Amino acid sequence: MNVRATVRWSLAIGAVATGVLVSGSLMPSALRAQSPTATDITYTKDIAPVLQRSCENCHRSGGGGPMPLTSYEEVRPWARAIKTRTGIGPHAGVMPPWYLEKNIGIQKYKDDPSLSAAEVAKVAKWADSGAPRGNPADMPPARQWADANTWRIGTPDLIVKTKNIVVKANSPDWWGEIEPVAIPLEEDRYVMAVEIKEVNDATVHNGGRDTVGGLFVWHHLIYRTQVGLDMSVETAELDSSTGDNVVSWPVHEVGRNADYFDPKAARLLKKGSYIVSDSLHTHSSGKDVTSHLEFGYKLAPKGYKPLYKRATYSLGNGVDIDIAGMEKNQQLHAYAVLNEPTKIISFEPHLHAPGTRMCLEAIWGYNIQTLSCVGYDHNWVRGYSFADDVAPLLPKGTILHITGYMDNTTGNKNVADPRNWSGSGNRSITNMFIDLGNRVFMTDEQFQEEMRARVAQNPGKDIMLGCPLCGVVAQQQKTATQTQNQQQQQ
Ligand code: HEC
Repeated sequence: MNVRATVRWSLAIGAVATGVLVSGSLMPSALRAQSPTATDITYTKDIAPVLQRSCENCHRSGGGGPMPLTSYEEVRPWARAIKTRTGIGPHAGVMPPWYLEKNIGIQKYKDDPSLSAAEVAKVAKWADSGAPRGNPADMPPARQWADANTWRIGTPDLIVKTKNIVVKANSPDWWGEIEPVAIPLEEDRYVMAVEIKEVNDATVHNGGRDTVGGLFVWHHLIYRTQVGLDMSVETAELDSSTGDNVVSWPVHEVGRNADYFDPKAARLLKKGSYIVSDSLHTHSSGKDVTSHLEFGYKLAPKGYKPLYKRATYSLGNGVDIDIAGMEKNQQLHAYAVLNEPTKIISFEPHLHAPGTRMCLEAIWGYNIQTLSCVGYDHNWVRGYSFADDVAPLLPKGTILHITGYMDNTTGNKNVADPRNWSGSGNRSITNMFIDLGNRVFMTDEQFQEEMRARVAQNPGKDIMLGCPLCGVVAQQQKTATQTQNQQQQQ
């Protein structure tokens, strides 16, 4: 069974500053002998720690990346490619696959594997100076990977597995239901984090297609958990008419990362429920593959009760998308008005082949803030979970605005034939435009409490991105403290 699932560069100006005129032939070599040069950046000291942190989870034997990057011997031949791929910026092709724009919006996210600008520059200098190994004594100890099955969320408290399915080498794409999977719980529990893995017998070089896509046969699974097996319950009715007995969950897609729920809004997994789905999409990999999904759940402690409600409004447009052929920078817009105070837990752009970017904006009166802008590559769907201390806290009445950017030209490799107009639809050659992110509603009191905590975490700050009213709360607290101090002095 196999699972696969970021300069130090000081210039030696001292000698120049002394004003000593040295002949051109002497000066450089003398300088070279004593001063730090680009070659001071070495694999063992500078590069290996970055690769261990940001690349090895995929680029190791048994990982999802096409080649291991765990030793100098493995890394050296890829030095130029590594420079190129780490230097792409928030666009398709960047490694690691993480497309957050670092010059706009909130910058702290959970599980952010990306390289800092300084690290990207270091990798480039290293590659440009011959990718030296450096002193073996500088090499950090090899990073231990428990096994190919390592869960990003940590060891799950509950793992639920679907039955194996066989996807034949040359079978056409298939879209349908899964056999329901019973969830072995003795009592109702709440889920803090969930991660889904495909576990199968495919390997890249086993005769199937020699691509990463060859490793997986489950393209996606949209699923819900429900008590009982009445399949007639419509997904559209979720969380309204059916109450707690039917709960929808984040989608499984190839390459998608784990989901974390707000600590105060863990999601209910009811005793006696089943995982059911009428939207499994399988595709063949060029060889027969036997495969199942594993759902890893991190549970809240027994007795846990959620304080916040899950927000169930939708943000996007999947109905009348209009993408012209052979045109770059086409924009789509969608809005949602928040009828209750809301915390945004994650941002998850969902576009199809022409999609290259999405931005999330919060409009509160004349306060307009860009919360996040991320690139999009339809080969690598990613969700962006805000770190707890920066997750947007938005007042009732805020208008959320998403902007999708589409490139329907030959410059976008994901588009099969950019001469075509495309509209809305389920297939990758048609379009979707949704923010699949997670949000929670709060009461006014809970909202005030969250804002007070946020202000306490950011002493001295009056303007906080993602929290338009935090400045007001900060001002109120300042005034209260001043009044208190004055009273004490009197
Ligand atoms: C989440 C998994 C994942 C992570 C993390 C990741 N990679 Fe990759 N990498 C892949 C996959 C899959 C491919 C092949 C598909 C593609 O090119 O996008 C790839 C391709 C590459 C390639 C191109 C290989 C070729 O054949 O030309 C390079 C170079 C690379 N990665 C380097 C890195 C480096 C360096 C890091 C860390 C800074 C990294 N990757 C992090 C999964 C990953």
